[in-house]
Amino acid sequence: MTGTLLRGRLFTFHHEPADGEDTDAYSYIADGAILMRDGLIVASGEYTDVAAVSDGAKVTDHRPHLLMAGFIDAHIHFPQIQIVASWGSQLLDWLNGYTFPAEAEYANAQHARAMAGQFCTLLTDHGTTTAAAFCASHKASAEAFFSEAADRNMRMIGGQTMMDRNAPKTVLDTAQSSYDDSKALIGKWHGTGRTSYAITPRFAITSTPEQLEMAGALAAEHPDCYIQTHLSENHDEIAFTAELYPDARDYLDIYEGYGLVGSRTLLGHAIHLKKREIDAISQTGAHPVFCPTSNLFLGSGLFDDAGLRACGITNGIATDIGAGTSYCMLQTLNEGYKILQLQDQKLHALRAFHWITRGNAEVLGLVDKIGTLDAGTEADIVVLNPRATPAMALRMDRAETLAEELFALQMMGDDRAIVQTYVAGQPQKGKPI
Ligand code: GUN
Ligand code: ZN
Repeated sequence: MTGTLLRGRLFTFHHEPADGEDTDAYSYIADGAILMRDGLIVASGEYTDVAAVSDGAKVTDHRPHLLMAGFIDAHIHFPQIQIVASWGSQLLDWLNGYTFPAEAEYANAQHARAMAGQFCTLLTDHGTTTAAAFCASHKASAEAFFSEAADRNMRMIGGQTMMDRNAPKTVLDTAQSSYDDSKALIGKWHGTGRTSYAITPRFAITSTPEQLEMAGALAAEHPDCYIQTHLSENHDEIAFTAELYPDARDYLDIYEGYGLVGSRTLLGHAIHLKKREIDAISQTGAHPVFCPTSNLFLGSGLFDDAGLRACGITNGIATDIGAGTSYCMLQTLNEGYKILQLQDQKLHALRAFHWITRGNAEVLGLVDKIGTLDAGTEADIVVLNPRATPAMALRMDRAETLAEELFALQMMGDDRAIVQTYVAGQPQKGKPI
């Protein structure tokens, strides 16, 4: 029988840990193994048990490294990979000064395809196997994104950004063209292999009411698609939005009015929310997405994770490249920890690692497919070296518990800690592009 058996320290979650002591929430197996075949996890558990059923599968020994489910990034912009770390401004100036000019280049299919390859490689080099991505407003960019994801057999979510006002002509579509393009892309890519479509109105500022109506029509026609957008990231953004939609009760009400808020809606940032908006997010089951490095980089504000969770809301967590400054979900947790510290909120390591794996899978409604090492799920796996650098190794010498080791990895780790990333059972690191 074919297949590959990975040996190493196995770590996977069964549910969200209630606190740092919740040992029922996860399995940690010091000498564990995962048997992968045809892109799926066939068995996982103690090495001796898995080896007994491995039927001659090739063994890759990753000891003493950690084997975890691949990381999931719930909000990222594919056409912004060349503007990461662009100096000086807050959201609206940053969009006008850097983002829209860069995204305009994605009208060129060749450029889009070249960048899509780089994008996917960057993700897997950082241990990320699934992302919910904004493409540019040109169909070529979405085609490039989905083609690349399909070629690599990655479980990816994406959407062509809809935007028909308040930006340069080079990135504007029309309400009708954005509907037509999205509709065609849904037909071609949604549920094709491992790709899914997200209806993607950028945010209320760059969409006319007519375009949001078209987005709502798409959502009604394709209720199994995701919807991704931005909400209440920055005070100037919120004020301008209120001017553009004077009849709305608040920012979220605009999206609600067009049928864009439900359990498959991902709301990037969601920092400065009113009580009514929080209640509506809770009632609809929509998901705010915390983007720590971006929120600090643009000076946007502090995400109230505990406040939203207290209302029964399940938050995602994401890099938000290119306002975010790292592709790495470990660095995202590092900065997220500090944002919560500033509000006297705590992010313990167990919940942190749950968040970037099974937690984000839950947000995306994909726990049956990704986010754990359970048999029957897809073999998207990251191999982590908590001693990747001299500084990390010195710290690990003093780590006495798994939680301590994980916390230091979350705070100090980056792509040097990613030994290997498997996508549907195939190793990605070191593969020629
Ligand atoms: N709001 C609307 N578009 C964007 C974007 O590209 N990045 C961020 N951070 N916020 C946005
Ligand atoms: Zn964003």
